[in-house]
Amino acid sequence: MEKHANAATEQSAREQFVTDEVVESFASSNDPRFRQVMQSLVRHLHAFVRDVRLTEEEWNVAINFLRRAGDITTPTRQEFILLSDVLGVSMQTISVNNTAQGDATEATVFGPFFVDDAPIIGNGDDISHGASGQPCWVEGSVKGITGESIPNATIDVWECDEDGFYDVQYDDGRIAARAQLRSDPAGNYGFWGIKPVPYPIPDDGPVGELLKAAGRSPMRASHLHFMVQAPGYRTLVTHIFVAGDTYLETDSVFGVKPSLIKDFVEHGAGEPNATNRVLAGPWVSTRFDIVLAPV
Ligand code: BEZ
Ligand code: FE
Repeated sequence: MEKHANAATEQSAREQFVTDEVVESFASSNDPRFRQVMQSLVRHLHAFVRDVRLTEEEWNVAINFLRRAGDITTPTRQEFILLSDVLGVSMQTISVNNTAQGDATEATVFGPFFVDDAPIIGNGDDISHGASGQPCWVEGSVKGITGESIPNATIDVWECDEDGFYDVQYDDGRIAARAQLRSDPAGNYGFWGIKPVPYPIPDDGPVGELLKAAGRSPMRASHLHFMVQAPGYRTLVTHIFVAGDTYLETDSVFGVKPSLIKDFVEHGAGEPNATNRVLAGPWVSTRFDIVLAPV
C-alpha cells in the first residue's frame, strides 16, 4: 500500500518536473508577452496530456493529423484556420477581442471568402451581379452605442449563391454576390442581395475527418457576411443568420449568436419594394440595425 502511494507521488512529481522545466525554459525571454503566452500554452498543453493520459499512439495520430493539415494547405485552402474554426478557437478569439460594450452588434468569424476591392455600389443597388438566388432586400441603420447615427460608414457584404458557392470558388474569375457600399448621410443603408442558403465548409481534408469522427455536420447555417468600418469605431466583422434555418444549432464553426438571427420576410412578386424594382417572382426582405462600439 505504502509502496503504491509512493509510486503515485513519484509519478506525479516526475510529470510536474517536466512541466516546470519547460515553463522555466521561457523565463528568460526579454519579450514579456511572448513569455506569458508560451508559459501558459505549455502549462495548458501539459495539463491536457496528463489529464487524458495521452498514449504515444495518440500522440502519433495527432502529429500525423497536423502534417496532413500542412500538406493540404495552400494560399487559398487554409486547413489550420478551418481547424481553429471547428475547435471554436477562432470564435473564442473573436469573443475575447470584441468585448461587450452597450448594445454593440456581436462579431463573428471572418471566413476565407472575403475579397478586397469588391465592386462599389450605391444604396439601393444590387450586389448579386448574376449570382443565382432569391432576391433579398437588406436594410438597416449604422449607429454608435450612444445612439448617434454614423454616416458614410464603409459596409462590405458578401455571400454565397443559391448553390452554396462563393464567386471565388469558381475558376472563371467572376465577381458576384459581394460589394462595398456606404451608409447614407442619415446613417442608413439598403441593398439587394440574395437569400442566404446553408453550405458546407471544405470537408475533404483532415478537418472533415475530424468532423466525421465526431458525428458533426460540416454545414454552416445560412448567413450573409458584413464588415463595417468607420473612423473612431471598432471594425465590426459579423454575419446575419436566417431565423428558422436548419443549421442554427449546429453551425460547424460556432458562429451563430442569437442576436444575429434575423427574420427574412417573404413577399409576393407584385408587392411594392423600397426601390420600385420589378420582380418576376417572390422575394424576401430583412432588417439589420448595426451598432458599432467606439475604439
Ligand atoms: C464562411 O462563413 O465563409 C466560413 C467561415 C469559416 C470557415 C469556412 C467558411
Ligand atoms: Fe460564409
